[in-house]
Order: sequence, then structure tokens, then C-alpha cells
Amino acid sequence: MDELSRFAIRTNACGTLTKQNIGDEVVLTGWAQTRRDHGGLIFIDLRDRSGIVQVVVDPSSENAFDTARKVRSEYVLYVKGKVRERPEGTVNPNLPTGEVEVEADTIKIYSASKTPPFEIDSAPSDESLRLRYRYIDLRRPEMQRNLILRHEVVKRVRDYLNSNGFIEIETPNLTKSTPEGARDFLVPSRLQPHHFYALPQSPQLFKQVLMVAGFERYYQFARAFRDEDLRADRQPEHTQIDMEMSFMDVDGILSLVEGLLKEVFKIVGVEIKTPIDRMPYDYAITRYGSDKPDLRFGMEIEDISDIVEEAGFKVFSDTVKGGGAVRGISATGCAKYSRSQIDELVEFATANGAKGLAWMAVEAEGNIRSPIAKFFSEEEIESIKQRLNANPGDLMLFVADKPVIASAVLGALRLKLADDIGLIKPNIFKLEWIVDCPLFGWNETENRLDPIHHPFTRPTDDTVHLLDSEPLKVKSYAYDIVINGTEVGGGSLRIHDTKLQEKIFKLLGMSMDEARTKFGFLLEAFEYGAPPHGGLAIGLDRLVAILLQKKTIREVIAFPKTQTGTCLMTGAPDTVTDRQLREVHIKLG
Ligand code: AMO
Ligand code: AMP
Repeated sequence: MDELSRFAIRTNACGTLTKQNIGDEVVLTGWAQTRRDHGGLIFIDLRDRSGIVQVVVDPSSENAFDTARKVRSEYVLYVKGKVRERPEGTVNPNLPTGEVEVEADTIKIYSASKTPPFEIDSAPSDESLRLRYRYIDLRRPEMQRNLILRHEVVKRVRDYLNSNGFIEIETPNLTKSTPEGARDFLVPSRLQPHHFYALPQSPQLFKQVLMVAGFERYYQFARAFRDEDLRADRQPEHTQIDMEMSFMDVDGILSLVEGLLKEVFKIVGVEIKTPIDRMPYDYAITRYGSDKPDLRFGMEIEDISDIVEEAGFKVFSDTVKGGGAVRGISATGCAKYSRSQIDELVEFATANGAKGLAWMAVEAEGNIRSPIAKFFSEEEIESIKQRLNANPGDLMLFVADKPVIASAVLGALRLKLADDIGLIKPNIFKLEWIVDCPLFGWNETENRLDPIHHPFTRPTDDTVHLLDSEPLKVKSYAYDIVINGTEVGGGSLRIHDTKLQEKIFKLLGMSMDEARTKFGFLLEAFEYGAPPHGGLAIGLDRLVAILLQKKTIREVIAFPKTQTGTCLMTGAPDTVTDRQLREVHIKLG
């Protein structure tokens, strides 16, 4: 008996019936996908989670026929009947059950359905309709496949971690703020007036405490809550495969996670190569203008500062002399771009923070078409072409600015062009670790250091001495796993020493009082024998979306929220009654 029928009212799941079942008396349950009347017979495509089978009702089985006539799309039915071979010429090769049909003798309607807002076999392009009627959207085979694959990923991850000595432990959702760089969602306390819980931005602090508590290897499928601006790959709540390990170094942790990813990718039939390449953070920023480079295509950013330093084009030479850089990319086959197409690229570059975008098109015969070509010698142009590896037909694009800005703008252009030109082919998965990340970045607006990961990340042994003198040069034991240009996971070795942790808080501009109030429990725990530890969290939603090659994580979440944080089905967030507000001691302004 199939799994879906064990313990059930049905004897068989619709999608499992084959020629082997011919002659069997079966009971089926499910939804009527369609009902058609044909030459006195009624045909119902009956659907359950396993698939669809055709049910035929003959007028001779009177009761069944009368009921069948009342059936409409999405009615929920009980069907009893006999499996038979489909008559010649009516076999449906597109359906796994296409060689058989069920001749019904009894049909019962469990419940009727209004006319659905859209057909189950075709998704409406309006996503808000899908989110509003999510229960119908989730009936679509594609959505069922997405969520079933997600389930499969969870199961494999559990199996893998369980077999490597991990223990699954839950941590609270009503807690104190965890700094992961977003705003907190707050929950007012009724029992303690004017006090609030924060929903965790991650279980970071608890998992570190669990290491102090001696569990050594922890994991959890943790919900994490972050009040930040939403995008295709960001939801206000997301699920992390959250892990923490004691007595392991970076190599050990990365190997362990590579094994996990290998297992997971097998589900979609992809064999990933391990060890996964490691790219230094600075290299990613310089060559791809991003800490999550998409390596499915080339078009790396090249620096041409040395070539143009003495060139006649002031914008370039002045930038280099002023300590900036001139960098460029070569867009394959884009020399044919029209002036207005190029103007659009210039606009895109300035919108992304560039002061301008210079360009040179290498035409078919190798001639250069460019408003700035006249400012360069032939040798300079030749060197630039070589540096950028530009061939006839390509369009070279340049940004002169602070090095980081030049790369960031070109990095954004690189992604846009890859999309425009169609450089990204399906079914390619490029994974890389981003390592050697600086511990701090400089927050220009607030004039202070910010952690690049989070404040618990451990500085490397060979740069920790620079904490006081040149903090921006301190590197960390942090690592991110990037797949196809998406940051899928990240983590680090942690500080396990109270003194060092206090020092980092201080460098981040936090007073000792503030640090004690926020994280006193962690600092205190470290004073009772803290093992060296580290870990990481993988974004489950992002991982599953990548496995299924979906553009947004909403496709792999049962009940996601819109860009404005609304659940269109439930209507959350919603107003509450005055009484509820009074109970939690809140007065609305
Ligand atoms: P981090 O902040 O990098 O690390 O989060 C881990 C992973 O979670 C996913 N993610 C998200 N997915 C969907 N919507 C969001 N809003 C969202 N934010 C993050 C990403 C990300 O890589 N405590 C650390 C981990 C650690 O150091 O162990 C943490 O939370 O895929
Ligand atoms: P201008 O001399 O400002 O008219 O600029 C001449 C050309 O150089 C124009 O095509 C500008 O878009 C381009 N340009 C200006 N500033 C920059 C810059 N910082 N980087 C790259 N190109 C620039």
C-alpha cells in the first residue's frame, strides 16, 4: 500500500494507479480538477497530492451519475470504483496514470467549492492573487513540488548532522536583541510593564551559550526575525539551518558544511565538487565589486590605473593621481549597442553611485568608437584592450573613482549586463567560500567601526595585534558560502574570551555598561570555561530557492509576506483592540 493510503479512508492514492491495478476495487479521495460531460459519460480528473487519475461515471450507475453531475472544479470527493484499462485511442501518455481510469460506482461530495480565482494548472501572473488565495496556489503541482523538496532538504540536513554528532536544540523566540544588523521586532510584555521582548534576529547568543554548556555540536532549524527592507531574497522572518561547534578550526567547519551541501545538492541530481574554492574577501570586492560574486560568468573587473595615469583624459589621470582608481569591464558582444542603450548604462552607473561612465566600443575591424578615444594614444588603447581582454565586438566600460566605488559600480553593471546579454545559463551552480574578511568596516555616516559579520567574530591570530593601531586591517575567521551570486550562509569562529569580547565591544563604540546590559550573560558565561567554538547559519529559504532555480524565496515559503511585510491571506499585520493595548501598557500616539 502506498504511504498516502496507509491508515486512510482511501485504498490508493490517485497518482499511483497503473496497469498493475487493473481490476482492483479502489477507494479514492481528492479534488475534482475538471469535470467533462461526453457522449452521456461524465469524466472527472481526480487529484490528490500524488497526482491525477481519470474517473469515469456511466449513467447506469445512477447514484454516482447524479452526484457526478453536481461536481464542479475543486469539489472534494470520495470515489469508489474499479480500475480498468482505458479504451484504445484514449490513452494519455502525458499522465503517469494515463493508461488506466476508474469506473465509479459511488461518489460522495465531502465539500463543494466556489469557482476558484484561478486554474490549478496555470499560475496567474499576478502574484498578489496567488498570495491572497495561497491555499489554492499551494494546490498547484509546482508549489507542492517546491515545498516537498524543501521538506526533503530539511530531512537530509537532519540526517547528515545527526550522523555527525549534532544535537537539535530549540532556543527561545521571546528573548533579547541579537545584533545581526537589522531592526528588531518587539513584543510588549504584559507582566512587566514597559518591557519588551525582541524576536531573535538569529539564535547566535544562545548557541554560543550552548557551547559553553558543553553540547559541542548543536543545530536547529531556527526562525530568525529581522525588520529590514524586503527584497526577492529577504523576508521579515526566515529559516536558518543554524549550527555551532566546539573544538573545530575553520578547515574542519568548512569541510563539514561542504559535506552537507554535497548531500543537499544530490537531491536535485547535482554533484558538487569539493573542496569548494575559497576566495579572499578583498579579491571579491576588487574583481567583482561584491562580497557575493556570481561566478557563473566572467567579465571580471580589471584595473587600468597604471595605463591611464599619464593619459590625456583628465577624468582618468586626475583620479589616479588623486589616489583613486580607473577600472573597467568588457561586455561581450555589446559594441553594437546604440547610443541610447549606452546612455541607459551610464544612467544605471550613476544611479549606482558613479560620477560617470566612460566607454569604448571595439568595432568589428578593431576600430574604436568612443567619445573619449581621442584623448588616448594608440598604445594606451591597445594596453587597455589587452588588460580587459576585449575582442572586436565588445564594449569596454570604465569608472574612475575611489577604488571601492569603481569596483562596486562595475560589479552592479556586470550583473545587469550578464542579465541583458543572457550570459547566465540555467542548471549551473557555482559555489565559493568568501574568506579572509576584515573584522570591521568603516561606517561613514556615524564615523565609527562596524562589524562586517557580527561582534562575536574572532580576529585572526596574526592580525589581532592591530586592533588598537589599525583596526581596519584586522582580519577575521569569518566565512560566507556564496552560490550563484547569492549569500546563502555565513559564520565564523567566535571570540571565547571575555576580555577580547569586551575590547571588541569597546572598539565598536559600545560602553561597558551597554555591553553588560545587552550581553552580560554571554560575557559571564565565558568566565566559566568557554571552549573555542564557531559555527554558521545557512539560509534555508535561499538554499531551496537556488536548488529549484527560483527568482524569489517566496516560491519556496508556504506563507510568505509581500515587499511591504503584509500577509495577503491573513491580513497581518493588523490593528488590535484598545483593551489588548491596555493590557500591554501601550498607548498609541
Ligand atoms: P547571517 O546574518 O549571515 O548570519 O544569516 C545567515 C543566513 O540567513 C539568510 N538570511 C535571510 N534569508 C531570508 N531573508 C532574510 N531577511 C535573511 N537574512 C539572512 C542568508 C544568510 O546567509 N548568526 C549568524 C550566523 C553565524 O555566524 O553562525 C547569522 O545569522 O542566507
Ligand atoms: P566630462 O568631461 O565630465 O564631460 O566627461 C566625459 C566623459 O567621461 C563622459 O562620457 C562621462 O560620462 C565620463 N566620465 C565622467 N566622470 C567619469 C568617471 N568618474 N568615471 C568614468 N567616466 C566618467
